[in-house]
Amino acid sequence: MVLGGLFEANGYHSAAWLLPSAQDDAATDVDYFRNIIQEAEAGKLDFFFLADTPAARTENLDFWTRSPLYMNMMEPITLLSALAGSTSHIGLGATASTSFYEPYNIARLFGSLDHISHGRAAWNVVTSANDYAARNFGLSALPPHDKRYEKAAECLEVVQALWDTWEDDAFIFDKANARMFDPEKFHILDHQGEFFRVYGGLNMRRSRQGQPVIFQAGASEAGKEFAARTAEVVFGTGSCLEQAQAFYRDLKGRMTRYGRSTDALKVLSGVSVVVGESEEQAREKWALWQETVPIEVGLMYLKTDLETDLSDLPLDEPVPEHRIPDHSNFHQIYFNEIVGLIREGLTLREICRKYNRSKVIFYGTPSGIADQMEHWVSEGGSDGFMMALPVLPESLTDITRKVVPELQRRGLFRTEYEGTTLRENLGLARPRNRHVTA
Ligand SMILES: Cc1cc2nc3c(=O)[nH]c(=O)nc-3n(C[C@H](O)[C@H](O)[C@H](O)COP(=O)(O)O)c2cc1C
Repeated sequence: MVLGGLFEANGYHSAAWLLPSAQDDAATDVDYFRNIIQEAEAGKLDFFFLADTPAARTENLDFWTRSPLYMNMMEPITLLSALAGSTSHIGLGATASTSFYEPYNIARLFGSLDHISHGRAAWNVVTSANDYAARNFGLSALPPHDKRYEKAAECLEVVQALWDTWEDDAFIFDKANARMFDPEKFHILDHQGEFFRVYGGLNMRRSRQGQPVIFQAGASEAGKEFAARTAEVVFGTGSCLEQAQAFYRDLKGRMTRYGRSTDALKVLSGVSVVVGESEEQAREKWALWQETVPIEVGLMYLKTDLETDLSDLPLDEPVPEHRIPDHSNFHQIYFNEIVGLIREGLTLREICRKYNRSKVIFYGTPSGIADQMEHWVSEGGSDGFMMALPVLPESLTDITRKVVPELQRRGLFRTEYEGTTLRENLGLARPRNRHVTA
């Protein structure tokens, strides 16, 4: 089973920073992150992942001050580069948006991280989903959803072509004849596309794992099609096993159209894991965190993800159907989840408490959590989990010291890393350079 972790300074739960145990300056403290990633590596997790959006929120600051996601953070590729030297096996994944980066920059940044970490880098390809970021890059709003995916596809194509600039054995370091590389094994890219024009080569040799691993999390039609064609790890969505199975079948089913083997892509279900002495105690722990979050935060998430403001409505009554917008432009999967909760007839307050951005919550004892993970994987819901750690460091040590040993005892999770590159540990093939014939 693949186990990755989604890390946010104090944890992903909106209450995490409010808890007495939370370190105030964690988000900009590299030593804090070093301790966290070393704990994750001691637990043999496949990878440490940092999400990103290149923007602070500029409106409704009264809300964002209560749930300050992305308001104070370090740039993830930079942070991972700093952490690479303190670790030796765990994968290092970060988001970079195809809507705002030039492909040449992405190829260099992740190419460098891949060298610094000796082959442990992964790029999470996202199209971004908020206008705050757009405004930092000369746009008043994000381009339409499908246009963003067209641009993402072209961007990825260029990045991967740049990573293949040099054949693996291009650098010969022939001192006797004063030839560092073989010019025959250097391939110039001449790309003239709709969104990008690149003529040149990447000034960096290929890495130990050939190319960084490609992560993706799209859940829309365009997103799934893109993932089926190009992704190697996908953060799956679905708030129950049936939905996860449907997503898994759907995505893997699409791969055959592109001539890809289903083993070439790992679907990891997004989960929050809450460990307790008993399942009931774990649920109480989560409920306590939920109650710590001011209700305004729940309303803000609904406003962001449903793309409409419901804060004028009474908290203890159901939300009228006519308040649902007729379409979404940002995260379709989040939008649909909220629509589902509204249609269930829940009150606005209940929706605020229940809505969890498409992440399933596993509550239980370590063995109860292992049961749920085992069931989910054996029933074809996923190849493993993308665990959003709700409260750090507690949620991480619960996994590394309690859940992982139980999974290892059952033979479901590694006791040692299989290799040193992320591809080796995930069981993904090293991509052959496109310029080398078999
Ligand atoms: C585990 C996980 C991590 C994600 N990380 C990011 C991120 O760092 N930045 C971002 O803009 N979107 C992130 N997303 C959102 C997705 O990239 C995508 O926009 C979302 O799933 C909606 O997909 P769609 O645009 O195909 O509807 C993440 C989603 C998941 C499930």
